Amino acid sequence: MGDQVEGTVQNVLEQETLKWVFVGGKGGVGKTTCSSILSILLATVRSSVLIISTDPAHNLSDAFQQRFTKTPTLVNGFSNLYAMEVDPTVEHEDMGGADGMDTLFSELAGAIPGIDEAMSFAEMLKLVQTMDYSVIVFDTAPTGHTLRLLQFPSVLEKGLAKVMSLKNKFGGLFNQMTRMFGMGDDFGDDQILGRLEGMKDVIEQVNKQFKDPDMTTFVCVCIPEFLSLYETERLVQELTKFEIDTHNIIINQVIFDDEDVESKLLKARMKMQQKYLDQFYMLYDDFNITKLPLLPEEVTGIEALKAFSRHFTSPYQGLCGKGDPVERLERKVSALQRQLHEAEEELERLKRGN
Ligand SMILES: Nc1ncnc2c1ncn2[C@@H]1O[C@H](COP(=O)(O)OP(=O)(O)OP(=O)(O)O)[C@@H](O)[C@H]1O
Ligand SMILES: [Mg+2]
Repeated sequence: MGDQVEGTVQNVLEQETLKWVFVGGKGGVGKTTCSSILSILLATVRSSVLIISTDPAHNLSDAFQQRFTKTPTLVNGFSNLYAMEVDPTVEHEDMGGADGMDTLFSELAGAIPGIDEAMSFAEMLKLVQTMDYSVIVFDTAPTGHTLRLLQFPSVLEKGLAKVMSLKNKFGGLFNQMTRMFGMGDDFGDDQILGRLEGMKDVIEQVNKQFKDPDMTTFVCVCIPEFLSLYETERLVQELTKFEIDTHNIIINQVIFDDEDVESKLLKARMKMQQKYLDQFYMLYDDFNITKLPLLPEEVTGIEALKAFSRHFTSPYQGLCGKGDPVERLERKVSALQRQLHEAEEELERLKRGN
């Protein structure tokens, strides 16, 4: 077992140059809870904060117990925290206008998977860019979707290339076709081209910012279980591939041995969690790892979020914080001995197996 240095997300709050904070992970691990709390904490140190949900199954409204739409809305009780929920999959009607444009878009969408999603993501970023928030937090959809979204610059590049090649190939015919669809000059190919090209600058700019560790970081949320560990590793690798900085892991739903747990079930869960916690600390020894306790109740509403936020800025004082120091150390020693014993047993088993 490595030296488990208790971390916090203080580093995120202190990094004044940060503009984009992504929060992601497997389904149901606590992404919305963690991104909401991060945005609340950031609002205490930054002039203005926007939290955006890009998850089609929006739940910022559940977390804050307030309805949000696709325009930024002030969160109740705050003067500098705004929230919005965008759906990267359906902005379709807003995109074209005339029917012919839709046809052209479906054509494009068929040729380049994810182009419509990429375009609406880019347009949203373009809009948000002009709004001048000091920092923007993303509550993302479960991993796969988020990783797809982050590939939007290359998808759009392909889209642009495709439209260009269509234009070159068919030239006048292309223009005629768009006119035939009743789009006139205003809605012709040049408009799509124009829109894609108009986005190009934003994409380049945002893409550069996303790859700048001073401006962007990705906070991975997980739980101490096998699948989540596995998925976190995949996520970290993909982020490295996209050159997106990540150095914070939040391990949620940790069961702490507060009350000298009697329940066999809980004891078994704790033991299982410990195994994965050890692996997290071993694999990510250069990350800030924040552990959050599993609560008996859900974390909804601003009061609950605020109360829970203290675990983001100071390590959880479970077992180690209570009681007589000698007793505490004795318990720690025996827990460590138990772990050592288990590890030795496993090693023996493995050696016998070989
Ligand atoms: N440490 C915790 N203890 C108890 N309940 C928690 C804890 N963290 C989150 N929850 C609750 O678990 C549920 C799921 O959390 P949350 O919505 O933040 O996860 P998510 O990763 O955003 O899920 P999804 O993938 O569905 O968007 C919520 O009801 C939340 O209040
Ligand atoms: Mg969520």
